[in-house]
Formats: sequence, structure tokens, C-alpha cells
Amino acid sequence: MAAKCSYFSSLLALLLAYAYAVEVHSLPPSTFPDASTLDFIRTSCNSTLYPSLCFASLSPYADAVGKSPVRLAHLAVNITRARARALSAHVSALRRAPPRGRMSPREGMALQDCAETLGDAVDLACRSALELGLVDRSPSGPETGWRVSNVQTWMSGAMTNEQTCTDGFDAVGPGSAMKADVCGRASRLKQYTSNALALVNCLVAG
Ligand SMILES: *[C@@H]1O[C@H](CO)[C@@H](O)[C@H](O)[C@H]1NC(C)=O
Ligand SMILES: *[C@@H]1O[C@H](CO)[C@@H](O)[C@H](O)[C@H]1NC(C)=O
Repeated sequence: MAAKCSYFSSLLALLLAYAYAVEVHSLPPSTFPDASTLDFIRTSCNSTLYPSLCFASLSPYADAVGKSPVRLAHLAVNITRARARALSAHVSALRRAPPRGRMSPREGMALQDCAETLGDAVDLACRSALELGLVDRSPSGPETGWRVSNVQTWMSGAMTNEQTCTDGFDAVGPGSAMKADVCGRASRLKQYTSNALALVNCLVAG
């Protein structure tokens, strides 16, 4: 039984790694990124709360982004979506097979809340990515204003859901390794989400 479970979780890990690669790397990383594009990304990232994380995660795709603020925001949302999915899968795996086979009832409740809120965060990031795809297709279309405002709403909602996941662990003692693990990952995810939201905000800021 144990062997079967670990077989499934490694299969799952493999599938997830593959899904992540397809999702984020649907754009091939640039081989020789153009210096002025890198400057564009650096300057855009300067308006985010975590500029080095922003630049490190977006610059490998410089060529595909060019100097389009919409594409840059879309890429950041794509990356957020992939990371939210990965964390959501991690939480599901923890629920199915807690480390050393046990977890406290409080940990169990916190994980259950996280599974729900992270699932919502994934949905919101997915919707945002689709919407930005439409904006990218006709950036000067009459619907761009409300589409961007939808994305602002949804990405803020995603961040709230990620925060709610972390809050759910308030009742769990500080010694919990599971709490440290999930909250650490959720806080990283929040940084990605915050950056993506900042880049979306740039699309409407004067
Ligand atoms: C980033 O912002 C700071 C202060 O707002 C500014 O001094 C710096 O030159 C900016 N860097 C880039 C690359 O735009
Ligand atoms: C975002 O992901 C979608 C696939 O879901 C892809 O078609 C699109 O090119 C990606 N956009 C950017 C800018 O990465």
C-alpha cells in the first residue's frame, strides 16, 4: 500500500512538473535577450513590491514579452497561476499523506481551509490569464478598461485567498513543521501574486 501511494505521488509530481513546464514555458526562454527589453522589464519590476523576484522570474522570457506591458503582466499572471496550482497540489498531497503519517486536528482543519482557498486562488488566476489574453489580442479595444479592472479584482481576490490560507494556521502552534512549510510557500506565492497585480495596475496607471 505504501509503495502504491509513493508510486502515485511520484507520478503526480512528474505530471505536475510537466504541467508547470508546459504552462510557464509555453514561451521558450530567450537565448540572447535584448538589452533594451531587459531594461524594460527591470523598470517595470521597479514598480512592484519584490523587484528582484519580479526580474528573476520574468527576464528568462524577455524575447517573448518584448516591450509589451500587457504581455509582461500576462506572463506574471501565468507564473502566478502555475505556482498557485503547484501549492494547491502540494496541500492536497499533504492532506492525503501527512509527513510521518500524522497531523493534528488543527493542522487538518487548516489544510482543509487552504485546499479550498488555494483552489479559489487558482481559479481567479486562471480567469485573469484568460482575460489578459483577450486584452493582448486587442489592447486598444473598447473593452480593455473593464477587462483590466476585472483582472485587478480577481488578482486581489487571489491574494486574499492566499492570505486566508495562512491565517488558517493561526490556531496551530509555532512548532508545527507543516505550518512552517505551508505558510512559507504561501508567503512566496503571495509575493508572486502581489507582483503580478502591480504589473496589471501599471496597465491603467497614467
Ligand atoms: C527604481 O526606482 C528607484 C527609486 O524609485 C530609482 O532610483 C531607480 O533608478 C529605479 N530603477 C530602475 C531600473 O528604473
Ligand atoms: C500565458 O499562458 C497561455 C497558456 O495558458 C499562453 O497561451 C500565453 O502565451 C502565455 N502568455 C505569456 C505572455 O506568457
